[in-house]
Amino acid sequence: MAETGAPENGPQHVAIIMDGNGRWAQNRGRPRLFGHQAGASRVREIVAACPDLGIRYLTIFAFSTENWKRTQAEVTGLMTLFRRYITKEAQALLKQGVRVRFIGDRDRLEPKLVDLMNELEELTAGNDLVHMTVAINYGGRDEVARATKRMAHEVAAGRINPDDVDAETLARFLDTCVLPDPDLVIRTSGEARISNFLLWQSAYAEYEFTPILWPDFTRDHFAEIVARYANRERRYGGVKV
Ligand code: IPE
Ligand code: IPE
Ligand code: MG
Repeated sequence: MAETGAPENGPQHVAIIMDGNGRWAQNRGRPRLFGHQAGASRVREIVAACPDLGIRYLTIFAFSTENWKRTQAEVTGLMTLFRRYITKEAQALLKQGVRVRFIGDRDRLEPKLVDLMNELEELTAGNDLVHMTVAINYGGRDEVARATKRMAHEVAAGRINPDDVDAETLARFLDTCVLPDPDLVIRTSGEARISNFLLWQSAYAEYEFTPILWPDFTRDHFAEIVARYANRERRYGGVKV
């Protein structure tokens, strides 16, 4: 790691809202799906950069619970792209030491895709260098609602005392229960909003918004943002002494 100079106070967990694929394609007079394909091929370089940047956890937003509102052609195209991506990248991810996890509600996803997601999770379960989490059919509110439902069942079954419920109890039921909270959330494409991404987990995350469209986002852009993070002062509501 030494040769690349991973920042000393660098983020352990970076989450990325990969936005701007549609506009990138439009700018070239091409269909939106062309942008999604270009976007998918960017992921490899960003994942590969993580070890050198000292990033142990990378979480990427691929499809939100609201993205079903898009045309059927776009949604179907994206689902096909996810299947192809998993099939194509599985061996490379395994060799790179990447452990892949998926978050989001799998119930609405086609069974073929869910099978591939499960297989990739199993295939890479022994890896520990980079923990990559892909959010598909993920929404922060939906996640909290599903977690609350599961917790309510435990309460109803008498395994949890309602008076003992606190934030930590609920967090154990979130899709992200095994992950640390993100330190840094990056959104590409110039939009300054979170669009329902990791609402609970990002309570004290640092945010970076860059105008670069996701298919143009390179390892150098990534490294520059990560380096800037090291200069930030995180207070968590306290006062620096
Ligand atoms: C992000 O790019 C990818 C997904 C939401 C699936 P967009 O498709 O939202 O691209 P823009 O925002 O329309 O440019
Ligand atoms: C957020 O981007 C979701 C993903 C990047 C997967 P959107 O493009 O869906 O968000 P809005 O609609 O601009 O808020
Ligand atoms: Mg968008």
